[in-house]
Amino acid sequence: MTSRRLVLTQSAALIGATSTGLLLPAIARAQGNKVRVGLMLPYTGTYAQLGVAIENGFRMAIDEQGGKLGGREIEYFKVDDESDPSKAIENANKLVQRDKVDVLVGTVHSGVQMGIQKVARESGVLSLIPNAGVEAATRALCAPNVFRTSFTNSQPTLALGKVLMDRGHKKAVWITWKYAAGDEAFGGFKESYTKAGGTIVKELGLPFPNVEFQALLTEIAALKPDAVACFFAGGGAVKFMKDYAAAGLKGKIPLYGSGFLTEGVLDAAGPAADGIMTTLHYSDSLNTPRNHSFRLAYAKAFRSQPDVYAVQGYDTGLLLVHGANAVKGDLASKPAFYKAMETATIDSPRGKWTMSKAHNPVQDIYLRVVENRENKVLGVAAKALSDSGAGCKMV
Ligand code: BEZ
Repeated sequence: MTSRRLVLTQSAALIGATSTGLLLPAIARAQGNKVRVGLMLPYTGTYAQLGVAIENGFRMAIDEQGGKLGGREIEYFKVDDESDPSKAIENANKLVQRDKVDVLVGTVHSGVQMGIQKVARESGVLSLIPNAGVEAATRALCAPNVFRTSFTNSQPTLALGKVLMDRGHKKAVWITWKYAAGDEAFGGFKESYTKAGGTIVKELGLPFPNVEFQALLTEIAALKPDAVACFFAGGGAVKFMKDYAAAGLKGKIPLYGSGFLTEGVLDAAGPAADGIMTTLHYSDSLNTPRNHSFRLAYAKAFRSQPDVYAVQGYDTGLLLVHGANAVKGDLASKPAFYKAMETATIDSPRGKWTMSKAHNPVQDIYLRVVENRENKVLGVAAKALSDSGAGCKMV
């Protein structure tokens, strides 16, 4: 009886220890469960296509690893954030509190990203930013659990101002959607253009995602600048390029942009996009084996051409794979997991890039021109460009 009671007591203790995980080594415990990956992206609205391309790219990188992360199966959870900042915190909490994701991949829109940042800071969940360029995320609000694989909004346009001046455009008008992405893109353009001696005649804007461009285009025609520079993306960018041409400005006042203007939209924009020059950290025509093989594999898997958003999603997957492999799937080993991602060199279709101390890519920015529905690379406009990370305590 005594020995039976002892056995029972020992079994109960064993069950208790097992259920709390005390007897299992951490790695075995980690590898037993699926990694819960949350995708918070726009699947409706003007940025819907961007969200789909990011998800495709991300899944492609994971599929190259047999669909696993550090040897562990994955379970995906998805939320359509609609590019609506007012729903951002609620949507991020659906993934973090309700679905208990280990990693939150998102998003596209800078305003929505601010909501994700709040949830990531409060919960400590790993946040991987596959697009949104809002500077605060890797400046004042930088955090050990926040990594961006895309850009800061001013990075592409810091290379644009000099391009306009080199091409003899001394007076320019800037036009954008008035929210963090457009405003911070303007910051980069203003800094580089005025430093090179250019004058910004007027800064024009309209609320996101409004596409009533007519009155602003009439104003541009009256101002007669040497060139126009802008930030637009997704469906709104197509409408802007078409309206610019329809207003008779194409061919008269050259149009330049942060490269998102012409990403993923060239079939829809047609001839209205021809000749537009932009600066960005990717170009379709980068002549490297890495880019060729990526483009082929992506086209085969998704029956569409990849764009910068697909590349950023892919690189987000590459970064996560790198970190997860380093800790053999034990994502709870945060110091080693994060260290591996901090020190990674990502062999991307855009070219190799590294993480700044504030967790933002240090990368080349290319000058491109639209020709035959392709963003053709003309050269490197800025080499290994890093964001300042101003105000980040990790820097
Ligand atoms: C942004 O809101 O940060 C953004 C959206 C689309 C393209 C680039 C940036």
